[in-house]
Amino acid sequence: MNTVKVGIAGLGRLGRVHAGNLAFRIPGAKLTAACSIVPEELLYAQKELGVQEVYSDFDTMLAEADIDAVAIVTTSGLHCSQIESALKAGKHVFTEKPLGVDPEECRIAEKAVEAHPDKVFFLGFMRRYDPSYRYAKEQIEKGVIGKPYLVKATGIDPEALVEGSIKFAPTSGGIYIDMASHDVDLMRWFLGSEAVEVYALGTTFKHPEFTECGDNETGCAIYQFANGAIGQLHVGRTAPHGYHIETEIVGTEGTLRISPVPEKNLAMIYNKHGAVTECVSGFPERFAEAYRLEMQEFIDCIREGRKPDITVYDGTRATEITFATARSLKNHSVERID
Ligand SMILES: NC(=O)c1ccc[n+]([C@@H]2O[C@H](COP(=O)([O-])OP(=O)(O)OC[C@H]3O[C@@H](n4cnc5c(N)ncnc54)[C@H](O)[C@@H]3O)[C@@H](O)[C@H]2O)c1
Repeated sequence: MNTVKVGIAGLGRLGRVHAGNLAFRIPGAKLTAACSIVPEELLYAQKELGVQEVYSDFDTMLAEADIDAVAIVTTSGLHCSQIESALKAGKHVFTEKPLGVDPEECRIAEKAVEAHPDKVFFLGFMRRYDPSYRYAKEQIEKGVIGKPYLVKATGIDPEALVEGSIKFAPTSGGIYIDMASHDVDLMRWFLGSEAVEVYALGTTFKHPEFTECGDNETGCAIYQFANGAIGQLHVGRTAPHGYHIETEIVGTEGTLRISPVPEKNLAMIYNKHGAVTECVSGFPERFAEAYRLEMQEFIDCIREGRKPDITVYDGTRATEITFATARSLKNHSVERID
């Protein structure tokens, strides 16, 4: 296949990032169709991205648009059913995380992927394509830090966006389901082992609105992995300095830290406040390159008849782990992850 014609579903916060990449920055791809339930977003696709075919209904796009593949960037609860219909319609599928909103739903996606082995299925765990995380993985595989036995993962949204988090909290599924999937996926990836047990806590010190809707502002969880390794997770919503994503991997011969300072760039300002480096503002900025690289890999897989390293089962596993974490928080108990 020469050029892969793609239809995108969802043009919200992240959909626009993927749509911009597909329209302008991915050799071998052409964004030919777009679907959204928000009319202004379709107008944006036509005017700003030059998309010819726009739809307000996903199944109509599948049936009528001239596309080889779809990128699903819709509300999480729609992913599994849209994956199933798109594969049935003979399209290659890129989907955003989470795979499904509960483990049972993920089985629907697994079955659909298994029934269409000739199609590429790509799950958007984009941190695996971030140049720093990829570099870390390569160094671990070369044995640079020996055998990894501890991953400490921090993921804190910026305080500047807390109003949005508060609004979204009642329907987010709770802090772990909302925020932990990338980190637990990275733990599995770096440790090469499965999480088997979790104990989780949650707390709120700044915005009581989180407690009022039964959620938490901050969560800390600890995981036992099958090979004896440990995962330590800190998620939150109130980083005053920006978007703080940091990962530390400790091994028998050394330690690797990825973005301990979530810096915007390499500039340092020396002034009356000291030596100051500005921080990234949010996920579109921090992971811009990762979003581009993962989409390029999706398109290359289709063109070269390859399958990506990430599988549908990675999506199910991440969902199972985040659900067990949420259960642990609710029940104040150590939970097995089966
Ligand atoms: N990988 C990441 O780092 C990352 C970051 C943010 C969001 N996400 C995921 O991306 C997805 C979208 O998140 P967002 O923040 O862009 O959401 P959003 O609310 O900003 O956008 C949702 C989009 O889905 C569209 N939509 C809703 N129902 C639809 C339907 N029935 N048919 C077609 N389109 C429909 C809406 O029109 C809108 O364009 C979510 O699943 C979220 O978990 C992933």
